[in-house]
Amino acid sequence: MSTLTWTDDLALGQPRMDATHVEFVDLLASLEAAIATPDAVAPALAALVDHTDAHFAQEDRWMTALGFAPQNCHSFQHQAVLNVMREVQRLHAAEGDVALVQRMAGELAVWFPQHAQMMDAALAETMTLRGYDAETGAMANPPAPEAEAITGCGGSSCS
Ligand SMILES: [Fe+2]
Ligand SMILES: [Fe+2]
Repeated sequence: MSTLTWTDDLALGQPRMDATHVEFVDLLASLEAAIATPDAVAPALAALVDHTDAHFAQEDRWMTALGFAPQNCHSFQHQAVLNVMREVQRLHAAEGDVALVQRMAGELAVWFPQHAQMMDAALAETMTLRGYDAETGAMANPPAPEAEAITGCGGSSCS
């Protein structure tokens, strides 16, 4: 059984972001289910890594549009997590280390709700505040041109 299941507590009120997060939770569950079948691990892992690459890139694009600095801490965490996932994928391909994949899946199940409820929630809040339409890129209340770039995640606990 998966260690992480979707609940409404994870919903952040941004439909495109929430749909992406449902997909992440589903692909993580698929990976955990695949652990018992060695041949199924590589494709399930590849699906999760590909999803995560696009998922993080999408949020990074939204942050750029909303006036975050390229080196903000949310994007930095995305890069760090994706690097670990790619390294685990590389080691699995080279050595067939399924235990490592299983450990990573367990860690991601703990990490994801924290990331969603802090960093992604702060991004969702900024999107709402700015009237940002994730589908079209239109923004009702863009930041002032002279506004300083946001280097934190935009949350109240992060400057
Ligand atoms: Fe996310
Ligand atoms: Fe994120």
